[in-house]
Amino acid sequence: MDDEDGYFGKSVAATYDDASAGMLAPGVVDPTVDFLARLAGRGRALELGVGTGRIALPLARRGVPVHGIDMSRAMVARLRDKPGGDDVGVTIGDFATTRVDGTFSVAYLVFNTIMNLTTQQAQVDCFRNAAAHLEPGGCFVIEVGIPELRKLPPGQRVVPFHVSPTRWAFDVYDVATQAMSSNYVDVAEGRGNYQSIPFRYVWPAELDLMAQLAGLRLRERWEGWTGEPFTNESHRHVSVWEKPVNEGGEGG
Ligand SMILES: C[S@@+](CC[C@H](N)C(=O)[O-])C[C@H]1O[C@@H](n2cnc3c(N)ncnc32)[C@H](O)[C@@H]1O
Repeated sequence: MDDEDGYFGKSVAATYDDASAGMLAPGVVDPTVDFLARLAGRGRALELGVGTGRIALPLARRGVPVHGIDMSRAMVARLRDKPGGDDVGVTIGDFATTRVDGTFSVAYLVFNTIMNLTTQQAQVDCFRNAAAHLEPGGCFVIEVGIPELRKLPPGQRVVPFHVSPTRWAFDVYDVATQAMSSNYVDVAEGRGNYQSIPFRYVWPAELDLMAQLAGLRLRERWEGWTGEPFTNESHRHVSVWEKPVNEGGEGG
């Protein structure tokens, strides 16, 4: 880990936007912002893991008041340096537990970031925290990949996803605990530099149960931001859980 900023310290923050260029393309950002702006309506939006503002900044430009939570000061410094960077309020802290003032019509956690919480308890806490920030009728939105266990041959735990002369990258799965890690070896002048980032993979049905524990119920599930149907071939999902209007706060 880099420093107190977690896995998104200064060196990662410095290259995050370039490394995520595909995710910053208008074809990706615009449908995401359309979807979230529709749910925000006239209310406020809360982004968990706001990062460098990939989604928060364009959503704020649409006129939606946006607040973010992130543990990485380095990522947030990048957000602040961008045009409109001061228009997004940010609280530094762990998004599984950090509370901010006021209520929101939508809270969202995109780009697989729920998996950065590496225990089931932290993921459950995150749902409870999101729910606590929602006004009745408000929604919590998650975008996350489907675990790629179907790529694992019997007896193997490793799925390579990039192999080139300069980079070897592979995921390692522990199907007993749902722990996984993404691992990178960057090769320069014949020497490798190794980095490993831990995650916890999580299935849609388990997320639905976490939502239920937090007093939320599933409203929509799509394959992507433009309403593609979610099927057994989908590689990711965009799910929306709603806080019921008449049933108050957290569930059991
Ligand atoms: C993959 S980046 C996504 C950033 C942004 N949402 C986007 O879509 O580009 C994950 C972000 O979540 C933050 N993060 C990860 N775990 C966190 C936690 N437990 N509490 C607060 N922030 C966290 C990281 O610092 C990083 O900025």
